[in-house]
Amino acid sequence: MNKSDNLFNLAGKRGFFFPSAEIYGSKAGFWTYGHLGTLMKRKWENLWRNFFLKLGENYFEIEDCNILPREVFQSSGHLQHFNDPIVESVKSKEKFRADELIEEKTGIKAEEFDAGQLDALIKKHNIKAPNGENLGKVQMFNMMFDLKVGAFGKDIMMLRPETAQSAYLSFKREFNALREKLPFGLAVVGKAFRNEISPRQGFYRLREFTQAELQIFFNENEMDKCKDWDLVKKYKIKINDKKILASKLKLPKFYVYHMVQIQKFYLDLLKIPKDKFRFRELNEKEKAFYNKIHYDIELKLDSLKGWKEVAGLHYRTDYDLTNHQKGSKEKLEVNIDGKKIIPHVLELSFGVDRNVWGLIDIFYKEEKERTLFNFNKNVAPVEVAVFPLVNKDKLPDKAMEVYDLLKDDFGVFYDCKGSIGRMYRRMDEVGCLAMITIDHETLKNKTVTLRDRDSMKQIRVKINKLKDVLDKFLDGEKLSKLGKVI
Ligand code: GAP
Repeated sequence: MNKSDNLFNLAGKRGFFFPSAEIYGSKAGFWTYGHLGTLMKRKWENLWRNFFLKLGENYFEIEDCNILPREVFQSSGHLQHFNDPIVESVKSKEKFRADELIEEKTGIKAEEFDAGQLDALIKKHNIKAPNGENLGKVQMFNMMFDLKVGAFGKDIMMLRPETAQSAYLSFKREFNALREKLPFGLAVVGKAFRNEISPRQGFYRLREFTQAELQIFFNENEMDKCKDWDLVKKYKIKINDKKILASKLKLPKFYVYHMVQIQKFYLDLLKIPKDKFRFRELNEKEKAFYNKIHYDIELKLDSLKGWKEVAGLHYRTDYDLTNHQKGSKEKLEVNIDGKKIIPHVLELSFGVDRNVWGLIDIFYKEEKERTLFNFNKNVAPVEVAVFPLVNKDKLPDKAMEVYDLLKDDFGVFYDCKGSIGRMYRRMDEVGCLAMITIDHETLKNKTVTLRDRDSMKQIRVKINKLKDVLDKFLDGEKLSKLGKVI
């Protein structure tokens, strides 16, 4: 089995995620987060909120409906442009994404080619369906889901394909309700839906997924200004395989400032190894139809055979607000220093599920005797586990006392099922950092053992010092500095 299979097996077995509605035979692209996956996803989302919403004192979060009127997507351009190229095998009528088949066979990135160009490539390289059949003509297929709403289903509404539109629709009201000042940020962490043609890559291309997106509305004239420029200008940004000084990039300062912040989020908070993170600029053909500047954030994922997009930094100009103003006939311009302007938008767009998968891939380790995730405490679904050494002699009662002592300050899991060795292995497999065991000595001298997931070494700690020691240990202090290794 390869790494991807091992990861899927482990993720399902331990309760990170598994196919939705699996007892009925699941549909591709729909997943359930189990208890560990949910803890991890919430952690990631809260880290994201705490980091990006604090970049501006005028940045806020809103929540909106997943179902929006069709007119919204007429104005946003999604009805016309949000298409994927679909191609069928002639006999069995199986459907594939034409650009993916071409990329798999030839390595040519064909995501933004039109149907004619794709047909030509299929012909030139004699590309067949994976089952060996010939392919028909490429057709464009709109990826939005529509819904019939109301008793007789007269109204057609759409499931939003990106959370961004919710921020544009709420912009004027929130701008007025808040400080009427730019830059002004509106974030949405919520579901998006895309009728992906062939969500074959497991957890990567989903039909229902979560995005965390921050739309920053700003004055176009201020794009090359940045009040914190001095703090970031010497930072080296990783673009492809080069590290480039922020001040050397030929991009507006406001854009570069956010590149730096995104890189810090990945390297400092999520602790992604430097060689597994990069920005990649998209060329004119690859860029989304609304973007003027577009860099993707990519992680190197072994399970998906290379660099994969997990987020994007998009300069969307005034495209969205201008089109919604036209479509809705509501004025969306604002008054800044006596002048009426339509703000421009910088969008920080993250796919939460892809990021969770990225962490699971990057921190997965196979050792001789065990498999583990070496997550840091910011992303680990469980930080501390508490076990009685044996399930008798009043040790479980004492272990519950220790669990109660810790549960308000740490993400703690209590376990008493099986031998201590098996409990350790199970916790290694979910990436828990610290394991506390209550043994017979605990009853005598009020100490417990603390085991480090990574080195598997242990120290003894007094229960009344345990919180303090755990704080330091989870912050990265070496076990040997916190006590005598036994
Ligand atoms: N609002 C801009 C936008 O939606 P996008 O590049 O289409 O831009 C942004 O999507 C992010 O959402 C991607 O970088 C990716 O992480 C995530 N994403 C997009 N489609 C996805 C899918 N089918 N399954 C899982 N995540 C997806």
